Amino acid sequence: MSYSYQIKSYEQYKKDYQQSIDDPASFWSNIAEYFTWRKKWDEVSTWNFKEPKIEWFKGAKLNITENCIDRHLKTMGDKPAIIWEPNNPEERVRTVTYNRLHKRVCQFAQVLKNNGVKKGDRVCIYMGMVPELAYAVLGCARIGAIHSVIFGGFSAQSIADRLYDANAEFIITCDGAYRGDKVIPLKNVIDDALIGNRTVKKVIVYTRTRTPVSMLKGRDIWWEDEMEFAEHQIEKDGIVNFPAEEMDAEDPLFILYTSGSTGKPKGVVHSSAGYMVWTNYTFINVFQYQPGQIHFCTADIGWITGHSYIVYGPLSAGATSVMFEGVPTWPDAGRFWDIIDKHKINILYTAPTAIRSLMGFGTKPLEGKDLSSLKVLGTVGEPINEEAWHWYDENIGKKKCPIVDTWWQTETGGILISNLAGITPAKASWATLPLPGVQPLLVDDKGNEITEKEDGLLKGNLCIKAAWPSILRTTYGDHERCRTNYFATYENLYFTGDGALKDDNGFYRITGRVDDVLNVSGHRIGTAEVENAINMHAGVVESAVVGYPHDIKGQGIYAFVIDSNTHGDDELTRKDILQTVSRIIGPIAKPDKIQFVKGLPKTRSGKIMRRILRKIAEGETQNLGDTTTLLDPGIVEEIKNGKI
Ligand code: WTA
Repeated sequence: MSYSYQIKSYEQYKKDYQQSIDDPASFWSNIAEYFTWRKKWDEVSTWNFKEPKIEWFKGAKLNITENCIDRHLKTMGDKPAIIWEPNNPEERVRTVTYNRLHKRVCQFAQVLKNNGVKKGDRVCIYMGMVPELAYAVLGCARIGAIHSVIFGGFSAQSIADRLYDANAEFIITCDGAYRGDKVIPLKNVIDDALIGNRTVKKVIVYTRTRTPVSMLKGRDIWWEDEMEFAEHQIEKDGIVNFPAEEMDAEDPLFILYTSGSTGKPKGVVHSSAGYMVWTNYTFINVFQYQPGQIHFCTADIGWITGHSYIVYGPLSAGATSVMFEGVPTWPDAGRFWDIIDKHKINILYTAPTAIRSLMGFGTKPLEGKDLSSLKVLGTVGEPINEEAWHWYDENIGKKKCPIVDTWWQTETGGILISNLAGITPAKASWATLPLPGVQPLLVDDKGNEITEKEDGLLKGNLCIKAAWPSILRTTYGDHERCRTNYFATYENLYFTGDGALKDDNGFYRITGRVDDVLNVSGHRIGTAEVENAINMHAGVVESAVVGYPHDIKGQGIYAFVIDSNTHGDDELTRKDILQTVSRIIGPIAKPDKIQFVKGLPKTRSGKIMRRILRKIAEGETQNLGDTTTLLDPGIVEEIKNGKI
């Protein structure tokens, strides 16, 4: 084939980009030739954003695990697929070759089958960062079950909501998870989530921490026992296999819940073929992956970044993917640098919040650490400030490694806007150019394209005007919600919820959310969700939550709370509220600041003027904008004076 899958020059990028727009069908069918299909597609894509209905590689049959595992076995069976770095650096590293991964995934697919899991069933996964989590995800994909991974920082209540929403009948968990010097009792959280639940039939428990757990007869089973039992079932005449389920291109691969501007998290659904093609294509092109390289994405598999760039992207490319169980600052702030040195990492993909936090420890933790294996650095999840970008460039990349600033979302499945490492230009704190097939558009609040520059830049709400292969297909169980959330704000456009700038080179800079979604340490949290949780606390009359700039987290959570305060002890009430939020959502959503107020700035029709609260939280005292439409303008002064 003469077609080059990996873009090798700026010129080729421009050519490929143009072709992907002019003739998407031939462009993407060339790209799709690089995968293993049981049957090829009848049509490359058909879509409309009205319903929305989006199909890619229509009529094709495949299984993503054959692309992530089986096709590599012949030439790379003994090559590491996963290198697992434990929380405790004294503990043994585990290296999982492609052969071993194949065996474990087959074994676990057999376990699922033995327990009655079928194609299309929803399986909830709530585990720490252990290789078994990857086996669980891929085991589901192998038999065609839809995985729904829930990040370990979510509470029992959040899990219960997600189990209910997806009507999940199976759970895979661990007794506990290590995070720095803490042990998180995951199975206990699951037990709480299951109180009153009548749909879950089986809970498979992997032993990681030996934390005491309750095991209900008939429902709860041990991972180790099940795997042992399945081991001989997948072996015949010395050959290990569990035949992969044949999936339709558009069969759902997974659900991942994410916060939006309305109260309840949505179950974003990704398809099999489009998601596979996109994660592989972007992994190979953005990071300029070279065969044999070792890739370290520091995200948790509980978030989309882990799905796409620890599991599916790197494994489908036959790369070695490093999976880290711990946290960047334990046992000390040199942990990432130790891991890079120890495993000779070539690609490091992390979040600005981690960079800022490590930057705060200075360069001492870097002393004596050999980072010369690094070739490419990446960031994701939030805007990166120039200071952090330069620190990363100078101290980690030693000015020799291109930095890719990758913009994307849970809903986009993979990277949409980013420079290509060393191939297209980088610009500090700019995500720069769209990947082939991605057509961004900046619009005003009415949906008109922005054409007038402000200070030399176009500035507007970021939309995408055509479907790319891994765009979300629906929100689980509620297609209308998908339509109203993403496709109804502006006609015939996918609306990202982000604001952006565009310069004369066509480079994009993402400025942050323009809706009521916060980005705290790279984690998406809806303000409405946090308010609902705070309002559940006895004594709270009403609350309003906004974001404010936070040096390390990017954004912090600021809550204005009207409290009946029957105890008269603000400090205690504050702690109680934090406890309530932890229970309802999880510790990640705890407000950084709680200010008790007598009233909230409301319009005469009762709408809270968040704009004013946002300004106060940001420390603005003068230009709060027009307050004359407020029911009680005096309240603003009072809130301003009580700012913490
Ligand atoms: C933000 C994470 C600036 C953005 C992959 C988006 C970014 C949200 C960047 C999605 C970036 C992600 N620069 N902002 N490079 N990458 N974001 O769904 O606001 O957890 O809408 O997906 O993170 O967060 P999510």
